[in-house]
Amino acid sequence: MLEPALDAAQEAAAAALDALLDRRGRVRKPGGSRPAGIYLHGRPGRGKTMLMDRFFAATSSKRKARLHFHRFFADLSAAVRITGSMRTAVDMVVGDVDLLCFDEFQVDDIGDGMLIARLLDVLFTRRVLVIVTANQAPAELLPNPVFHEQFEPTIALITGPRAGPDAQQARRTDTCSTS
Ligand SMILES: Nc1ncnc2c1ncn2[C@@H]1O[C@H](COP(=O)(O)OP(=O)(O)O)[C@@H](O)[C@H]1O
Ligand SMILES: [Mg+2]
Repeated sequence: MLEPALDAAQEAAAAALDALLDRRGRVRKPGGSRPAGIYLHGRPGRGKTMLMDRFFAATSSKRKARLHFHRFFADLSAAVRITGSMRTAVDMVVGDVDLLCFDEFQVDDIGDGMLIARLLDVLFTRRVLVIVTANQAPAELLPNPVFHEQFEPTIALITGPRAGPDAQQARRTDTCSTS
């Protein structure tokens, strides 16, 4: 199959993604100077899903999952209701993986936002590499002014500290834009 020619912004995002794999295509565990994942955002039709799928296919590990966020989140919410535990719910819905790719990440309301905060905490603690595509930049998530402030700690979880001890470095995603 012919590789698509990428524009400059797509090229930069692809390079950031490729840096998360070693020469054999194995996932490099987050930690040290390596981020917990990549938050890839940009306007619809800018190739985000294409770039994520290309990266997912290039990953040699079998311990990986690529999920549509909306469907995944419905399953996760149901599992949390049944089990009362985010960790058990993650075990049930995704199992033991090194890489999770979420297409079309979005936050519809503050209730979802609170669950997403707990989800990210579990994934980052387990050092699962998390890639998301989204139409919004992190700061644009949950724009409703009544709730945005309450969601800011989760935005900070995504963008995290730029510098700091290793443990903190491994708990932030790098942000790329194809816009
Ligand atoms: N550089 C490119 N070369 C070829 N096709 C591209 C390129 N960028 C995007 N596309 C195509 O444009 C369409 C929209 O891309 P998609 O990945 O769905 O965008 P997004 O997820 O950002 O909405 C897809 O058919 C994709 O293959
Ligand atoms: Mg898409």
